[in-house]
Amino acid sequence: MASKSISEKFSLKGKSYIVTGGAMGIGYHITKDIAEMGGNVAVLDLRDSPLEDVYGLAKKHNVKAEYFQADVSSEASLKSAFDKAVQSLGKLDGIVTAAGIAIDKPFVDQKWDEVNKVIQVNAMGSFFAAQLTARQLQHQKTPGSIVFIASITAHCNLPGYRMAGYNVSKGGVKMLSQVLSSELAPQGIRVNSISPAFIDTNQTRGAKEHTTQAAGALMESAPPMLRIGQPDEVSPAAVFLLSEASSYVTGADVLVSGGIHTGRGGDYDMV
Ligand SMILES: NC(=O)c1ccc[n+]([C@@H]2O[C@H](COP(=O)([O-])OP(=O)(O)OC[C@H]3O[C@@H](n4cnc5c(N)ncnc54)[C@H](O)[C@@H]3O)[C@@H](O)[C@H]2O)c1
Repeated sequence: MASKSISEKFSLKGKSYIVTGGAMGIGYHITKDIAEMGGNVAVLDLRDSPLEDVYGLAKKHNVKAEYFQADVSSEASLKSAFDKAVQSLGKLDGIVTAAGIAIDKPFVDQKWDEVNKVIQVNAMGSFFAAQLTARQLQHQKTPGSIVFIASITAHCNLPGYRMAGYNVSKGGVKMLSQVLSSELAPQGIRVNSISPAFIDTNQTRGAKEHTTQAAGALMESAPPMLRIGQPDEVSPAAVFLLSEASSYVTGADVLVSGGIHTGRGGDYDMV
């Protein structure tokens, strides 16, 4: 049997995916790329309506592009929106969990309620969105792909930032990806994560406003590539992990970090 061409392997034509947190930022760019690669896509997001043009993707790429308001930290809200999304898509081939929130403040000032919320949204929201997906794939008796958006903070500390609660939540997401990759592999469900570092979105713009100018500037100067990343530099990794191009990849974490996981860059002129 002739093997597929590389563009056929990357194609998502005829596939259907859910993206949590797809109203803007990294999640939106993943939604857009799925549609452009021919996949149907449904966004689940806290916002009443998407900040970016999710609906327009349908006509532009001749796919389904749906949007459902949902709070991934609420079991009832997540399940209800998930069920509506699957019904509207007709079937499911995978999910990307991009919904997330962050806090940056000294460890001793991080409050019970705010850390709880970060863990609820980032870790619990990813956990139960993945669980709903695994159940749906089992019900369909079809293979699939689960992609978690973890973070560089699941790997190392970011210079200038104090994000203990967030790091705990994302460390959990990265480990969740690893355990599920093993447990779900016999059912043909691949599970991987993406760990972005500093990416230019509302989340990082918000962090910049709440931190010192020097810490804000680190987003541009600390990565060895000496710049912040863009959300459309993260989304292709999701297309790869959803598609057949990654058919033998599971339990992997793709770092999209400008190299900062190797250490802080930009200091060569000091030596
Ligand atoms: N921007 C970065 O530098 C960076 C780095 C590493 C990881 N991440 C992660 O990438 C993901 C996307 O972040 P982003 O930078 O695009 O941020 P963003 O703030 O632009 O987008 C986050 C999206 O999640 C949605 N959301 C928040 N709480 C939700 C909830 N309870 N239920 C449903 N949706 C909810 C928001 O409405 C928004 O659309 C997050 O998980 C984030 O932690 C971001």
